[in-house]
Amino acid sequence: MDNSSTHSDCMADQDPADRFAIFGNPLSQSLSPLMHNAAFAQMGIAARYGACQTDNAAEAVRQFRRMGLRGASITLPFKESIIPFLDEMDESAETIGAVNTIVNRDGRLMGYNTDGIGLTDDLREWLEIRGKTFVILGAGGAARAAVYALLQAGGTPVVVNRTLQKAEALAGRFGCRRVPVAEIGELRADCLINTTPVGMFPEVDRTPLPRQVAACFPYVMDMIYNPIRTRLLREAEAAGCAVRSGVGMFVRQGAEQFRLWTGMEPPIERMMNVVMERLLKNGGD
Ligand SMILES: NC(=O)c1ccc[n+]([C@@H]2O[C@H](COP(=O)([O-])OP(=O)(O)OC[C@H]3O[C@@H](n4cnc5c(N)ncnc54)[C@H](OP(=O)(O)O)[C@@H]3O)[C@@H](O)[C@H]2O)c1
Repeated sequence: MDNSSTHSDCMADQDPADRFAIFGNPLSQSLSPLMHNAAFAQMGIAARYGACQTDNAAEAVRQFRRMGLRGASITLPFKESIIPFLDEMDESAETIGAVNTIVNRDGRLMGYNTDGIGLTDDLREWLEIRGKTFVILGAGGAARAAVYALLQAGGTPVVVNRTLQKAEALAGRFGCRRVPVAEIGELRADCLINTTPVGMFPEVDRTPLPRQVAACFPYVMDMIYNPIRTRLLREAEAAGCAVRSGVGMFVRQGAEQFRLWTGMEPPIERMMNVVMERLLKNGGD
């Protein structure tokens, strides 16, 4: 799945199509080029989406401008460090403090964050968010996006994180509760959302919580999508919980990027199918 390039010409200059790219490091496992190129093809849009592995955020923005891209996805580790190099920030990206999408508006680079809306769009297909309590495990960028979007959607997030100061900072920023990791099993909540990378490929035998703790929540979601069914989800399902992988969120955050870049309704089914096919082909379950 290595589709990334560290060269400054990571997309051919002579290509007449509109150009988009993902910037991050590493990018070898990224499914964004596959998903977005399938979406452009499905909609008959002459566009190409490439993968540009760079060493830092400044270099990513330099490459973006040099290649005259119309838009980009930003992934780890540049979601926060890219901010000072952008011309403007959308309100949600500003509040979350992280950018996963750039839109080129007549040479001005606008930063957006579609992770939060990707999460809530996906969750809505599974459960009613309004009035529900969500335990957010982790306090990084994905957790901030989750807390922001769940509050917007009428949910109540509770933050639990290994590093207490980071949990306090996140909870304080959004005015929500935080609970020490040791007390997570005593929480009464509707849904647990893992936003830590624990259990992600290749470390698929790891889990962020003991199985008896995961079993305390009627709904368990893992933002990880590789593998599709993490150890956390397998154990929660065996204990009778309803479970959901991060694949739907991944596709929905990409769909929102597509909407921002093209102004068109994204072909979500096609995007989901290519992503699922690739994950299953790689033994992703
Ligand atoms: N499905 C999707 O569309 C989607 C979108 C965005 C992100 N994600 C996934 O979400 C995950 C997190 O991304 P991020 O951007 O939030 O990363 P991040 O900013 O690095 O934050 C990671 C968080 O996980 C915690 N953590 C890391 N290792 C841990 C461990 N061994 N035990 C307990 N906690 C641990 C960290 O705790 P400390 O604060 O203690 O360091 C931190 O709070 C990644 O797996 C990413 O792929 C998925």
